[in-house]
Parts: sequence; structure tokens; C-alpha cells
Amino acid sequence: MVEKFIVTPWEVRGRVNYNRLIKQFGLVPITDELLEKIKKFTHDLHYFFRRKIVFAHRDIDWILSEYEKKNQFYLYTGRGPSGYTHLGHLIPWIITKWLQDKFNAKLYFQITDDEKFLFKESISLEKIKEFAYDNILDIIALGFDPKKTRIFLNTEYAKTLYPEAIKVARHITISTAKAVFGFKNDSNIGKIFFTSMQAVPAFLESKKMGRNVPCLIPLAADQDPHFRIARDVLPKLGYYKPAILHTKFLPGLGPEGKMSTSEPETCIFTIEDPNLAAKKVMNAFTGGGATEKEQREKGGNPDICSVYQYYLFLFEQDDEKLNQIAQECKNGKRICGECKQILAERVKKFLIEHQEKRSAAKDVLEDFMLRD
Ligand code: TRP
Repeated sequence: MVEKFIVTPWEVRGRVNYNRLIKQFGLVPITDELLEKIKKFTHDLHYFFRRKIVFAHRDIDWILSEYEKKNQFYLYTGRGPSGYTHLGHLIPWIITKWLQDKFNAKLYFQITDDEKFLFKESISLEKIKEFAYDNILDIIALGFDPKKTRIFLNTEYAKTLYPEAIKVARHITISTAKAVFGFKNDSNIGKIFFTSMQAVPAFLESKKMGRNVPCLIPLAADQDPHFRIARDVLPKLGYYKPAILHTKFLPGLGPEGKMSTSEPETCIFTIEDPNLAAKKVMNAFTGGGATEKEQREKGGNPDICSVYQYYLFLFEQDDEKLNQIAQECKNGKRICGECKQILAERVKKFLIEHQEKRSAAKDVLEDFMLRD
């Protein structure tokens, strides 16, 4: 049976088969050979690369060869502020921060309040802006360099963005937007235009500098369709195609799918009470047996276990120790209760520290903001 999953910029559902997604989207898989090339510049590899959490790309080899020729790139990523930040949102941001440090790269961070207003028709623009400024605290808390990082809301930075967005829009037809995003005749007309706004930061640095600057976009794979369009259009405006790095989705604590705000019990928010988050971990879906006896005899299955995924993505960065967790799970030595307990403690510690950094971020927020 072929398992069903859906990945679009507005919906991720089911257990994603990344090999099939690579084919569907026409991505290039990250190979060990490519990792060696990256390592030549960075000297070590972030565990997201080692574990193929960054699993695919477009034109990263080109970015590296330009970098080697001293043609420095800049980074671009973003956030759609439809709610509070959860742990899943951090994945592309963490690798962006690592790349910023390793390559000493400038970063544009786009907050698409316009997008969420158009696509979540039940939330007001005021509420979305509130989420936007709350989400920005999480971004700053990750430690981006204030001298090299610029964050903006689309509706607030519109005077700069809009004249560029219309240049993109003139090259996109309604049928392309419909084919790529699945819009119907009863979709509101703002949706059709929106992808032009998301394209702009992919050439904004070139526009500002008056010369072409390569752009690298780390993103969660669901955002790729926007940049398939942007990569078609930008050369027509005289710019480079942006390069892309694709990250996998952190699964929810339930049996399947990514972490999603619409299922709060399977989802850990960064602003959450650390004790409540620990409880959610204790209630998580695991790959363990029905009883302790059964699990001691037959072992557990880390491949389907949401708890194991949390170690893999965020909470066990030492490869050897991660491997040990998997082995001890499979041979019945490690049982779910204790495994969840250890994870719960780590999640709690992470949240306490992150929340302190969020508080500190309030004082420096304006240093990061880009305003017209
Ligand atoms: N549309 C994205 C979201 O809903 C936000 C975003 C804007 C983005 N520009 C980006 C994400 C560039 C990745 C890269 O979350």
C-alpha cells in the first residue's frame, strides 16, 4: 500500500515519505559527497546535516562555488505568524543560524502577516501582528547576529517591498498560481498575489546593493512551491535564482504528521509552561509494546516512535548516544516510561532557558527590525 501524505504551503498531513517528496517537487537529495564539500568550508557539520534533517536542496553546489570565488551569499528565511511558535518551527531557523555563523552571512527574515491574514480568514490582522511580534522574540532568542540580521513584517515594510512585488507579479499568470497552489475560483484574490511578496527578499539584497548577490533560503520543505515560481521569474528580472536548503518536519507527539498548532495536545509551544510540556511528553505516542513485559521481550520500535523523533531532531545531539537510545529501545533494555521521563526533563530545561532568552529579546527587538 502506498501511504498517503500531503505537503503544500498551507497543509502538511500524514507520514511524509521524503524520497517521494523529492521526486514530487523535483528536489536534489543531500548526498554524503555534498556534505564533504560543505565541510570543506565549515570544518564541522551541524547534526541536522549529518542526520539528513536537511534532506534536499536546489543549487547549493553553485552557492558554494560562488563563495569559493569570494562571491558572498546572503540568507533569507521567514515565518507566517498564525499562532505561537512551536518546536517544529525552530528547525529551519536553527540551521539558518548555524549557516549565518559559519559563513558570516547577512540574513533577511520575512514575517508574512499579509499571508496569514489572507489564508486564515478567521483571524484579524491585529491578532496576527500580535503573533508576529511574539514570534520575533523566538527568532531573536535563537541567537542571530543583530548586526547581520534584519527582520520585517510585510505590511510594515510595504513601501520597500510592494514596488518589487509587482515586478514579480507581472510574470506570474493566474493559471500558474492555480496549478502550483490549487486556488479555486472562490479563493480570495489576495491569495493569487501573495507569492510575489514572498519572492522579494530572494533578490532584495541585490536590489539594495545594485549588483547581483547570491541568496540561500533554508526552509521547511512545504515552502518550496513558492520558490519554484520565484526561480522561474527572477532571471527574467535580471537576478540569480535563489538556492534552497530543505528541512524535514518535526512530527507531533501523536501517532502521525508534523507538529501542528491545530492539535495543541501533540504540540509543544515555546511559551508553554515547562511542566505542562513535560506532561505532554509523558502522554506521547511511542513505539513500545502494550505491556512492560512484552516490551522487555520483543523490544520497541524507534522508527514509529514520536519520542525517539524528539531525541533525533532536538534533544540528543551526540550521534553515539542517539544510536544507543535506538539500540536499547530495540533490544528491550530501555522502556518507554523512563525514555519519556528523560526527554520530558530535557524539554523542560530547554523551555526554561529559551523563555529567559525570549524575555531578554524584548529589549533588543528594535535593533533587528527593518523599517521603511
Ligand atoms: N510562508 C512562510 C510560512 O508560512 C513564511 C515565509 C516567508 C518563509 N518567506 C519565507 C519561509 C522564506 C521560508 C523561507 O511560514
